[in-house]
Order: sequence, then C-alpha cells, then structure tokens
Amino acid sequence: MERNITASFVEAFAIPLGIFDLGDLPELTLANDLIKEYSTQDHALVPGGKSSWNIDYGSILHNPKLQDLKEQIDEVVSVYGEHLGMSDLILTNSWFNVMPKGSEVLPHRHERASVSGALYINSGIGASSLYFSNPTMIYRMAEEIKNHNTVYSSSAASIEAKHGRCIVFPSWLEHGTSINDYTDRTVISFNYVNKNSIT
Ligand SMILES: [Fe+2]
Repeated sequence: MERNITASFVEAFAIPLGIFDLGDLPELTLANDLIKEYSTQDHALVPGGKSSWNIDYGSILHNPKLQDLKEQIDEVVSVYGEHLGMSDLILTNSWFNVMPKGSEVLPHRHERASVSGALYINSGIGASSLYFSNPTMIYRMAEEIKNHNTVYSSSAASIEAKHGRCIVFPSWLEHGTSINDYTDRTVISFNYVNKNSIT
C-alpha cells in the first residue's frame, strides 16, 4: 500500500552571506582615486596582484577622507551582525587589493576578526567572483553525493563581485577567487570585532 510521507526540515546552523548594494555612493569613486596615492606591495595570497595589506600607513577606511564610506560600511556590518545575533561591531582593519587580469586570491580566512567583508570599488564584466568553501565538507567522510547543486551538497558558494557590491561574511569562513579577467579589479576588504574584544 502506498503511503504519503509527511516531512519537515530544520535549517540548522545556516551561514548567511550578506550582500549589500552600495553602488550609488559617490565615495566609491573617491576611494578609487584615493588609493592611487597609496603604495602597495606583493602579497602571497594575491598572486599577480598588489595589496596594501600590512603596510605601515594603516587602515584605508580610517583615512578621514573616507569617513562617510566607513560610516556606510559600519551600518552594513551592523545590519549583518544583528542578523547573526552579534552586536557592537567595530572596524579594526581595512586594506585594498588591485588585481590585474590573470591574478587571483588564494583560499584564506581572516584571523583575529569576527565579521569581514569586501567592497568592490572597481569591477565589471570578467571580474572574478568571490567564492566561499563549504566548511562542513571536512566532516562528511562517507557521503556519496549525486547532486552537487544544493546548498547542502555544493562544495562552494560563489558571489559575483559586482561594482559597488559589498559582501559581508563570517571571518572564519574560507574564501578566495578564481582567475580574474577584468582590468584592475579593486576591492576594499575589512575586519570587524565586538568592541569588548579590543583590549
Ligand atoms: Fe579575504
């Protein structure tokens, strides 16, 4: 006898990736012009590209000329943090990467941070997407996956690096890019922590 099965599923332990459109901000052009005054260097995680990471002039978003942009990102991170049950997140560090065609970002995480993000201040068709590795895969030792196109079974989630898009994510989540095919794809990246974590 055929029997109807009633099923329900609980979406346990989801990992939201925040996507915010800041494309209408005039500060994107300001930031893109301003970074040309900054020096950059090679970075092992960005082969083929240049980065301001760890250069001693400090955090790009702490430049007073980018105060308005920083406040917008503060707001974005606050909305994201609230969605995840976090509060009082403050900016600790920010930097930028300039990626010519053929460059990429290798998989990495942002240590000593809680919430991180990327704002694309120069991007367009051909720009490499940002992908996130599925962190549950290392625990799944015996699954024979037939369909890799579900949110549970895919090995990565990919988000297009559209111009003006701000992608916000947990700092512990591994991410990187494929090979870039857009001239000087430029991103400002940032780290936030709870204010009580600052000693
Ligand atoms: Fe990153």
